[in-house]
Amino acid sequence: RSALSYINVKRSTRTLSIMGASFKIQPVNRFGGESEAVKRPKEIACFSYDDKHEFHLDDRSLQWYYPAELGADLSKGFEQFDKHDDSKDEHIDSLLKTIMAHEEEEGKKIDANVVTWRGMMTKIMSAPFDDRDGFEMNATLYQDCIFIEENHAHKQAKQLEQQRTQQGRQQPFSPDVMTYWGYKFETLSCLPRPWGEVTRDFIEHRDNEIVSNKAQYCSVVRTGIGKTTLCLGGEVDAIWDSKPTHKGAPINWIELKTSVEIRDDRSMQNFERKLMKFWIQSFLLGVPKIIVGFRSQQGILTKLEEIQTAQIPETAAKRGVRSWNANTCINFASAFLEWLRNTIDDEGVWRIQRRHRSGIIEVFKVEEVGHGSILTDEFINWRIKL
Ligand code: A3P
Ligand code: MG
Ligand code: MG
Repeated sequence: RSALSYINVKRSTRTLSIMGASFKIQPVNRFGGESEAVKRPKEIACFSYDDKHEFHLDDRSLQWYYPAELGADLSKGFEQFDKHDDSKDEHIDSLLKTIMAHEEEEGKKIDANVVTWRGMMTKIMSAPFDDRDGFEMNATLYQDCIFIEENHAHKQAKQLEQQRTQQGRQQPFSPDVMTYWGYKFETLSCLPRPWGEVTRDFIEHRDNEIVSNKAQYCSVVRTGIGKTTLCLGGEVDAIWDSKPTHKGAPINWIELKTSVEIRDDRSMQNFERKLMKFWIQSFLLGVPKIIVGFRSQQGILTKLEEIQTAQIPETAAKRGVRSWNANTCINFASAFLEWLRNTIDDEGVWRIQRRHRSGIIEVFKVEEVGHGSILTDEFINWRIKL
């Protein structure tokens, strides 16, 4: 049954022959045509990180959307930025804790075939049209479910590499400042409570708030692509109104994004490419609306645009966008996930890897037994008991 054979894996200067398999991304036209069935994502649980990035099994960090004032300088307050230290590997611990609590409440295991962060699925789904975004993930099979985390060492190495290449360039704003713009826009667009429960004064003085990326509200959803049922966790930026009382009903989530103003064909094409990532990210969690804050080259907020997530693929197709196609993303993900479930069929820790500009995704074992650091003892013990 095993789909494995020997593949050559380059590790630094050596080439090792190890048990593994690879999935061809190219040619992508074999994933075209009608889209495979997808399930509407439903929130099954949520959790929050507070402003110290401490975990809580509740929705305390949920924020409400309230439009930002145009003309704001997104660089303002950069020196005070309360930035989360992402050097520590957080694995999928928070997701596991939330799943455990949910299972305890329900009295049974979740039925997902794959559990991971939304960000990992975004990388997989965009793989047919983005060959610059190489990735490395670790995966382990436990009780008929594949748990996938990002390989933290690879992520950090990639960040360092990016910093090094950026340093050589002459840019008016450093990459750190430009990253700050995204978080500043969130602070300018959100309220900690619904609109009726905050003062006018608070709304008007959001520009003076200290920006932090430590607090997060994360939604955990059950969704499906093709034959695979997924449990995904991911950050949601804000809500439009309030959560419906009926469990499983669609929620009016808001995704906030910044982007440089469109001035010519080139920036138009760049934006169309970015829309693919916006769409995938929001599609996976069932976020219906994206608010794009357009900014000048200097980081001044100049325009707001509301985009319906569900409309993005259609609009792109009508405009004749050739850089990506939504059905292909879905069908690719569906085929890849099915293949992955046939490939990761044994204990141990597996690497899922796509190299920069590579046309294949490689999957091979990196640890013969156990679950590495992907699963916590707490989670394993919980499942043994259940
Ligand atoms: P923008 O997306 O407006 O640039 P998210 O949009 O996923 O909610 O993320 C919020 C902000 O985090 C982003 O705002 C960006 O500033 C920063 N960010 C997220 N992912 C990033 C990445 N891979 N590299 C650099 N910055 C990132
Ligand atoms: Mg976010
Ligand atoms: Mg956002």
